[in-house]
Amino acid sequence: MLDDVAVVILAAGQGTRMKSRMAKVLHRAGGRTLLEHAIAAARRVAPPQRIFVVVGHQAEAVGEVARRAGVGTIQQTEQLGTGHAVMCGEEQLAALGGRLVIFYGDCPMIRPETLEHVVTLHAESGATGAMATIIVPDPTGYGRIIRNPAGDVAAIVEHKAASAEQRKVCEINPGVYSFDATAFWQHVHELRPDNPAREYYLTDMVEILIRAGGRLAAFTVPDHTELVGINNRVELAEADGVLRARKSRELMLDGVTIEQPDTVSIDVDVQVGQDTVIGPFVQLRGRTAVGENCHIGACCILENARLGNNVEVNAFCVISDSALDSDVKVGPYARMRLGAHLEEGARVGNFVELKKSRMGKGAKAMHLAYLGDATIGAKANIGAGTITCNYDGHHKHQTIIGAGAFVGSNSTLVAPVEIGSGAYIGAASVINLTVPADTLALGRARQVNKPGWKNRVTGD
Ligand code: UD1
Ligand code: CA
Repeated sequence: MLDDVAVVILAAGQGTRMKSRMAKVLHRAGGRTLLEHAIAAARRVAPPQRIFVVVGHQAEAVGEVARRAGVGTIQQTEQLGTGHAVMCGEEQLAALGGRLVIFYGDCPMIRPETLEHVVTLHAESGATGAMATIIVPDPTGYGRIIRNPAGDVAAIVEHKAASAEQRKVCEINPGVYSFDATAFWQHVHELRPDNPAREYYLTDMVEILIRAGGRLAAFTVPDHTELVGINNRVELAEADGVLRARKSRELMLDGVTIEQPDTVSIDVDVQVGQDTVIGPFVQLRGRTAVGENCHIGACCILENARLGNNVEVNAFCVISDSALDSDVKVGPYARMRLGAHLEEGARVGNFVELKKSRMGKGAKAMHLAYLGDATIGAKANIGAGTITCNYDGHHKHQTIIGAGAFVGSNSTLVAPVEIGSGAYIGAASVINLTVPADTLALGRARQVNKPGWKNRVTGD
């Protein structure tokens, strides 16, 4: 990080080709909004207080993403072009001096290294500015890079303004620049909307600075896919695929096994520890963090889940906003949500749902249960078919089950209710009164046998 860098991310446009009610930069790829990707890259070259997002279309929602990321905003009420967008920040930016790095918010695949490279090239070349270029198979729509006979960048010509000859150029402008701030602010008012779109093109700054005696250094990023902007939902899906493939690759190189990685989908903010094995068709979303040596079985979906080490999640589990401490085993077909917490060594089997419930160390619920708003003590055993009746139609109530308690199969626990430690609930009981510690509770009708009943009824 150079301490004289300020970054401007342009994000005021609507993104008409997205055909969406939502501003383009708020669409997601790899589990983050496009804008969050841009901000994450920017943070590699500047601290948050020197990063600014130009907002205009849906300024409030876009600005909120910026605020949450701790970076500033610049208002552009009318979208008069990319050059105009930067000009709107003159008051906030000109005083900062140093280097002005500018790029576009619709470019989520940009690697922080590329941004760093533009800044270092600018610093080391001593030029007025530096920029990245890419070579694309189909340059339609992009600004073309025009070089002079010496091979230096002489101008960027927008597609609409380009001649037939210029349109053949496949080296294009991905929109990643670092300018000497003093020179930029000194000359930015020379921008004129004298083009077919009647916009103030930021790209015209290249010619303006060269005319003023400056020079622009440039380097070509080898993999052009990194810097292609997102303009429609097809490109959004492609970017999503690229970001997830990149994430899986990073994890594998860091010691995570991923079976059939093409089927696995991992958001970029997810963390996974060494020697964890991820099965086919798994989705890891949001802020999920998985420890070391875990096994996530096929088709599990984890969202904002926190797993310790040696956790086993068998196939087809759905876990959201929940924590599984080390050595926990769950599934197959288990569901945990809304702050469920399984302490060390707890076990949950198939068709068990936990909502806002905590299971103590080594507690078990192995089959067919609903445990909502419950606190379950260490080593308690919850029988198959146990249901906490936590909702009375108006309010949710708590069930408390003490350590080492044994809840027989098909028990109905009517909350609020408390079962003491070491207590024993007979199978199929309806429990709505406190059960003291070490007590056997039977809450069911006594069985009645009627000998010879069949013969009497049928007359046989
Ligand atoms: C721009 C470049 C073009 C480059 C291409 C790369 C210009 C004039 N052209 O074209 O050379 O090849 O990107 O993808 O810069 N924006 C604002 N305010 C505005 C206009 C745009 O904030 O008034 C923002 C948009 O929200 C977007 C970014 O700037 O994030 C780029 O704008 P866009 O209209 O997509 O530019 P392109 O036509 O793609
Ligand atoms: Ca664009």
